[in-house]
Amino acid sequence: MSLTLLSSPLQGFTDYRFRNAFQHYFGGIDTFYSPYIKLNGKLAIKGSYERDILPENNTTLEVIPQIITNDAEEFLFVANYVQQLGYKELNWNLGCPYPMVAKCGMGSGLIRNTTQIEHILQRVHEETNIIVSMKMRMGYENPTEILDVFPILDHFPIKNIAIHARIGKQLYKGGVDLDSFQKCLDHTKHKIYYNGDITSVEKLRMMQDRFPSIDHWMIGRGLISDPFLPSMIKNNTTEYPKNRLEIFESFHDTIYHDYDAYLSGPTPIRMKMLGFWEYFSESFSNPQKTFKKIKKAGNSKNYEAAVKEIFRNE
Ligand SMILES: Cc1cc2nc3c(=O)[nH]c(=O)nc-3n(C[C@H](O)[C@H](O)[C@H](O)COP(=O)(O)O)c2cc1C
Repeated sequence: MSLTLLSSPLQGFTDYRFRNAFQHYFGGIDTFYSPYIKLNGKLAIKGSYERDILPENNTTLEVIPQIITNDAEEFLFVANYVQQLGYKELNWNLGCPYPMVAKCGMGSGLIRNTTQIEHILQRVHEETNIIVSMKMRMGYENPTEILDVFPILDHFPIKNIAIHARIGKQLYKGGVDLDSFQKCLDHTKHKIYYNGDITSVEKLRMMQDRFPSIDHWMIGRGLISDPFLPSMIKNNTTEYPKNRLEIFESFHDTIYHDYDAYLSGPTPIRMKMLGFWEYFSESFSNPQKTFKKIKKAGNSKNYEAAVKEIFRNE
């Protein structure tokens, strides 16, 4: 069976620097979703969002931009903007769980507002020819909320709906709710992609057994914890390449230098890399000790020495 792997966007992690290095060293991902574009009350795109999706920064990748909004004007503005850059598709985020976002009726907080979802889709459908895809949780308070949205979505030519099988209230806690995900499959005519907690080849195989109709799988955190995962899934193997650590270290050095050149001052780069190591450390035999070592390194020199030591000792 054919299998398509998508990189689920992670704000603060999977920007174009990460994506390019990832593609170069690991591969296995068919399409990358860029982290969401959010307008802050003004119809203007921030420079960092722009850089992230500029075609010249994404020459070797297939990228789909994403928006988070509950406003039709904003959607149309960003749709027009990404079309000017040459994109044909805009992904709509109805998944973000963070209270600051959800309480404003965006992300997973928009799922309950079926009227607004319909209004936005209606205008987008009438006023632009952008292809719309969606990324949703199953609700904010409970996983049946999405079932009230499906009849509306059925009226529009949505390309696909990627579903993270959690509700907003959960944030990232608890497990994915696969029974509710099954209900989603039973209640829509649209193409569904699966997202949530794919962290190993075995886990993906279990999911494939449970949901044989799904052939698009979206991986978020699992791709940072184990960057070899997508290519191993694609090659149908649980074996890592022999030079696993060498590849990982080269990848690390590439993103470290790229972020160091871009972020000014010692603290931002330290925080950036610390964020990555929260996930990277899971690829090492003692994740806690590994992360602690990075956390303890107070400056760039110590950080670089700590990284070398971690790779050497593994
Ligand atoms: C730090 C962080 C940032 C995220 N940023 C985005 C985002 O910009 N857009 C989005 O649709 N999802 C975002 N997500 C959600 C992930 O894309 C994904 O749906 C979620 O982590 C579940 O998939 P996973 O278990 O494979 O990570 C984010 C998640 C995390 C942890």
